Amino acid sequence: MQSTGIRASYASPTLDAIVALLHEKLTRYNWVGFYMLEKDGDRDVLVLDSFKGAMTPHTCIPLNQGVCGAAASTGKTVVVDDVNSDPRYLACSLETKSEIVVAVCVHGKVVGELDIDSHFAAAFGPGDRALCEHAAVVLGRFLERTPS
Ligand code: SME
Repeated sequence: MQSTGIRASYASPTLDAIVALLHEKLTRYNWVGFYMLEKDGDRDVLVLDSFKGAMTPHTCIPLNQGVCGAAASTGKTVVVDDVNSDPRYLACSLETKSEIVVAVCVHGKVVGELDIDSHFAAAFGPGDRALCEHAAVVLGRFLERTPS
């Protein structure tokens, strides 16, 4: 697997800090992590990067699979109020009830995404969406300004 350069070591402390802040401060954010796009041969895949929460079996997700794949391939935020009623959902934990996935863009191109799971149904309202999208924008701007 080949790195795009976005996962270079300079980015890791920033990803870690955003994950830690969201996971520690928002009590309903039970799993918080970043997936970053990498090349696997000639296809793009989402590779698990910094995260907090239970280990997930989904460490590498093709763009045509999962809620994560839907968000990364469209660049649009996906909010799932009830994961059990969404056929796209790839189960990470039996406790997960709802999920939000927000794309991270660099110069208008998706380079990864912020993924958050909650043990509570419909945990991600408009305020959560705004917060997560803001975090993704801040990270994207940081990555734009930092040489790879
Ligand atoms: N639920 C995601 C997979 C990642 S885990 O939640 C950490 C999905 O459906 O793509």
